[in-house]
Amino acid sequence: MPTETVYGLAANIFNEEAVDRIFSLKNRPHFNPLIVHIGRQADLNDLVENIPPLANKLAAHFWPGPLTLLLPKKDTIPAKITAGKPMVAIRMPNHPMALDLLRSLPFPLAAPSANPFGRISPTKAEHVEAYFGNQLPVILDGGPCQTGIESTIIGVEDKRITIFRKGTITEDALRAFSDDVISHEKKESEPVAPGMLDQHYAPQTKTVLTNDVTGLVKEHTGKRIGCLMFKTPPPGAEGVVGKVLSTTGKTEEAAMHLYAYLHELDALALDLLILERMPDTGVGKAINDRLQRAAAGHTPH
Ligand code: TXA
Ligand code: MG
Repeated sequence: MPTETVYGLAANIFNEEAVDRIFSLKNRPHFNPLIVHIGRQADLNDLVENIPPLANKLAAHFWPGPLTLLLPKKDTIPAKITAGKPMVAIRMPNHPMALDLLRSLPFPLAAPSANPFGRISPTKAEHVEAYFGNQLPVILDGGPCQTGIESTIIGVEDKRITIFRKGTITEDALRAFSDDVISHEKKESEPVAPGMLDQHYAPQTKTVLTNDVTGLVKEHTGKRIGCLMFKTPPPGAEGVVGKVLSTTGKTEEAAMHLYAYLHELDALALDLLILERMPDTGVGKAINDRLQRAAAGHTPH
C-alpha cells in the first residue's frame, strides 16, 4: 500500500500467516518489529495500555502524518508484531488511499517498507513491482510518495521525547511540544530500532558519501560515475551522470526525490555512486542519516 513516506507491505496484525509472509518476503530478521498503521486516533485505545497525554497531543497534531509513536502495548497485540518487545510502534499515514483502506477494515495493518531487507526503500508502485512482482496479490498504486523518507520514530515517556529514527518531523518541530527532546545514540550491539542498523537503504552499486563531489570525481577519472547532488549540477566530466534532488535547495523536496533518484542511478550499473552530503539542518539531518546508511559497508574510494 502507498503511504506518504514510502510504500509498505501490509498485513492484518492478527493474521499470523500474513505477518509471517511479510518477514519471509522481505527476508527480514524476526528481531525487527513492525509498525502498526491505524486509520483513526481513537484506534489507539484498543492497542495501547496507557497513552501518555503528551502522546495524545502529538498524535492530534501530527496525524495523519509521518510520526511513529512507541507506546506500551496491550496484550491483544501479537508478540510477532513487536518482536517480543513491550512497546508497539504506531502511526496514521497521511495518504488518501491508505486512510480509505485502514478506515474500511476492522483491523490495523502492520506495514514495513516494501523492500527486501537492507535495500533501497520504494517510493513508487513500480519499485514494489520490481522487487516483488507477482509474489504480491495486489499492489495499490497511489502515485509517487510525497514525503519520500520513512517516518520519524519517537518514544514518549512523561515529558520526554526520544527520537529513535530521524524523519521529516524534525527535532525542532517536536520541541514545540516538550523542552526535553533527545536523540537516541545507537549502541553497536543493540539496534533498538533496526532502521538504525549501520547499513540500510543500500544501492547495489559501490557508494560513497562526501562533501566534495568534484574532488572525488577527479580522483576517479575514467570511471563511470553517478552523482546524487543536493542543488547544483554534477561536475561536467566524461563518464559522469547525475541527478539533482532540489534545484531550489529545499530539503523537503530533496527528501521526496531521494529514493527514486537512488533507484534510477543504481539501475544504471555504474562503477561508483557519489552522494553529496546535505546541510545538516532540519530535514537535511534525516536525509544525511539515510545517505550515510546507503554508503555504509561500501569501502571508501
Ligand atoms: O514511514 C514509515 O514508517 C514506513 C511506512 C510504510 O509506514 N514504514 C517503515 O517500516 O519504515 P520499517 O519496518 O521499514 O521500519 C520500521 C522501524 C524499524 O527500524 C523497526 O525496528 C522499528 O521501526 N520498530 C517497529 N516497531 C518497533 C518496536 N516495537 N520497538 C522498537 N522499534 C520498532
Ligand atoms: Mg524499512
